[in-house]
Amino acid sequence: MTTIPLDPEARTALQETLVDWFIKNQRDLPWRQNYTPYQIWISEVMLQQTQMERGIIYFKRWLLAFPDIQSLAQADESRVLKLWEGLGYYSRARNLHRCARILVEEFQGRIPDDITILQRLPGIGPYTAGAIASIAYNRDAPVVDGNVGRVFARLFNIDRKLNDPACKKELWRLAADLLPPGRARVFNQGLMEFGALICTPKNPRCDNCSLMGFCVAHKLGLTAQLPVPNKGPSTISIEMATGVLCHQGRFFIQQRKNRDVWGGLWEFPGGEREKNEQPAETVVREFMEETGLVVKVDQKITTVTHHYTRYRVTLHGYTCTLADRQNISTPILNAAQDCGWVCLQALDEYAFPAGHRQLIEFIKKMQ
Ligand code: ADE
Repeated sequence: MTTIPLDPEARTALQETLVDWFIKNQRDLPWRQNYTPYQIWISEVMLQQTQMERGIIYFKRWLLAFPDIQSLAQADESRVLKLWEGLGYYSRARNLHRCARILVEEFQGRIPDDITILQRLPGIGPYTAGAIASIAYNRDAPVVDGNVGRVFARLFNIDRKLNDPACKKELWRLAADLLPPGRARVFNQGLMEFGALICTPKNPRCDNCSLMGFCVAHKLGLTAQLPVPNKGPSTISIEMATGVLCHQGRFFIQQRKNRDVWGGLWEFPGGEREKNEQPAETVVREFMEETGLVVKVDQKITTVTHHYTRYRVTLHGYTCTLADRQNISTPILNAAQDCGWVCLQALDEYAFPAGHRQLIEFIKKMQ
């Protein structure tokens, strides 16, 4: 597919209008103070799958803990995951950490400005490479994210799903074609900012749109129909149960294996409810399978729901005690790489998946 190209004058006018709009209307964001490559890298990775308000809070906390590449490279992975706790998609945090170590060992602690080299680093794909090269270094590299895709779909009346491979290719071609040489930092951020503030998914602010004169969707009255919705994978509901085992004032927690979902995070043992099983029975079975410990369920804590990737997880939490005298010093770890017995306050020092963290907050209130 090919979009009808703008004539050179219209293209220049669009570029100038967008850049002017951005300079006047950009949000005051912490990483826009001095465009440090490290800060641009962290902010761009954090903002993937994360709302801006939330991203800013996590970004500021992250910078206090890891102000530069060296401090991130030297950190323990557990600290990195703790600072990411609640953001989800934890491979992003593990990749930032691995990447920082590579940058220190092989790049003299500097982030490259070349998109080909950037894309060889862990966790850096075409979007993040383009964002770092253009926003941090003002290199002439295009970027396409959801915001940019939506702005283009409306400006150029692209009536294809944006995740269709041919359409994706066309969006990247357009982003490269429209980029004013030497102005990538303001132009690319302008596109994304415009998508976030004006050309929004619902109720776009067309009455306040500086690009209206260029917008084919507006001319044809198609703004509300574009972009064509992507058909995402449908949500899968799963039901799980977990046991918070308390013994002599300490709680049993285990650390998930690195290769598993939530790798490196901590949790209470548990698993998916099987057919014809009560959630409390799931807890007893899973405890035995995962740790060899025989537990007795005492009390329901609560049921929480949370989402990860395409799963909607209903998690039933129970307090438990040991069923009888057992050797607790060496539990078998069938599902974990490490374990520990920790007091209530110390649970805050570990990174837990969202559902387990919610259970901890309930337990605090039960005490
Ligand atoms: N969302 C993600 N990255 C962004 C950026 N650089 N500017 C505006 N919104 C964004």
